Amino acid sequence: MAEFKEISPDAPMAQKALNWIDNRFPLSKLYNEHLAEYYAPKNFNFWYFFGSLALLVLVIQIVTGIFLVMHYKPDAALAFASVEYIMRDVPWGWLIRYMHSTGASAFFVVVYLHMYRGLIYGSYRKPRELVWVFGCAIFLVLMAEAFMGYLLPWGQMSYWGAQVIVNLFSAIPFIGPDLALLIRGDFVVGDATLNRFFAFHVIAVPLVLLGLVVAHIIALHEVGSNNPDGVEIKAHKDANGKPLDGIPFHPYYSVHDILGVMGFLLVFSAIVFFAPEFGGFFLEFNNFIPADPLVTPLHIAPVWYFTPFYSMLRAITTEMMFALVAIVLGAAVLAAMKLQLTKTMKTVVLGGAVVLVALMLGIDAKFWGVVAMGGAVIILFFLPWLDNSPVKSIRYRPSWNKWLYGIFVINFLILGYLGVLPPSPIGERVSQVGTLFYFGFFLLMPWWSRIGEFKPVPDRVTFKPH
Ligand code: HEM
Repeated sequence: MAEFKEISPDAPMAQKALNWIDNRFPLSKLYNEHLAEYYAPKNFNFWYFFGSLALLVLVIQIVTGIFLVMHYKPDAALAFASVEYIMRDVPWGWLIRYMHSTGASAFFVVVYLHMYRGLIYGSYRKPRELVWVFGCAIFLVLMAEAFMGYLLPWGQMSYWGAQVIVNLFSAIPFIGPDLALLIRGDFVVGDATLNRFFAFHVIAVPLVLLGLVVAHIIALHEVGSNNPDGVEIKAHKDANGKPLDGIPFHPYYSVHDILGVMGFLLVFSAIVFFAPEFGGFFLEFNNFIPADPLVTPLHIAPVWYFTPFYSMLRAITTEMMFALVAIVLGAAVLAAMKLQLTKTMKTVVLGGAVVLVALMLGIDAKFWGVVAMGGAVIILFFLPWLDNSPVKSIRYRPSWNKWLYGIFVINFLILGYLGVLPPSPIGERVSQVGTLFYFGFFLLMPWWSRIGEFKPVPDRVTFKPH
């Protein structure tokens, strides 16, 4: 237990009150550790706005969500009408609902940019592996949260989107059909599904999300922030042990982040007030039609933030499986020939490849599509251990790395675009190439991240006052 601190009886009331609290709860300690004496690198740039913006969107979602729940009815017979009631009759209900629906898309925009910052500056590298792993868990949970939230308005897209995605689980061998039944609570998406998704969306998943965000920030503050140069500011400290290239988070970055908040709110309000459906991307047009189990919409597509992964799911056709089998066999033979492996290891690699190929040919391509979709997210968790580059930041990596990261983004956007469109032969082929590129980027990273000419990394951060 910390020592009880006495304070002069003549001290101002506020100071006495604070001292009373500090003797019972580490308020000043927390404030100092995480704000006033959290030293962040002084060279943060535009990319560093998105962490605080993700926190802002989280708050917007929770607050607007609470108000939505006051009027929403989680009942298959009432849900759609209750959302219409919120939109038309509840005072300011339209604003709350549009803030929540726009907030869902904003969350993904902000989080994708936040993740990309981590990628280009190597923020996932030692000692920030856990910051990244918690981040990936947040991303996964956020996807579950958005997916379950989308069922609640009980429109045609809510209903059929859930039907398609939950049915995917039934492609898992042995347990699949029972698992899908367990998730739905019925043989088709129905009232039971709506009720359980509601419970998960409003309380279970947000609790996990909040816990993960707290863990994410505690882990970050334990090791300290990375920066655009990817150099550790803790390596150079002054006589008081403060990093020479660090500035206190508060007031410097608390004020700096207000600029990001203003920019964000400008764009966010413009969408909420002038284009809340955002051309059918944020609120799909089919979702203004009540769910009808007897009428399947011609084209079922998830919301934009899921479509890159949906494209990867659709890319795995029976034909594609043959290409993947060739890749697995080729990789195993190459590994056996090029790597200095013992004879036993070679047998294990080749034997493993043969077993994998047998499974790939023996199980339906639909299942492997699900594996690709899930694997595309799971692979992110392993990034800290895939990157072998001697430097962290893209600034000091070989120049061609910038092109590679640029193509990675364009590829992800193309996959996203194709996922919105109805299936087509050309779209299928492009998404297959895109899927191979996506996985190739990560799986071959241990190799390509090592090669090329690296630039000298400065000892201290580079910073021009402005
Ligand atoms: C609800 C979602 C999230 C919230 C509220 C959040 C919050 C934050 C905050 C406040 C910071 C410090 C400020 C900054 O560096 O921008 C941060 C840093 C970081 N976040 Fe997140 N984050 C979220 C999701 C994610 C995800 C999905 C990932 C990656 C998969 C991630 C990876 C990181 C990394 C690597 C850092 C350290 C960056 C550095 O020091 O350069 N975060 N996060």
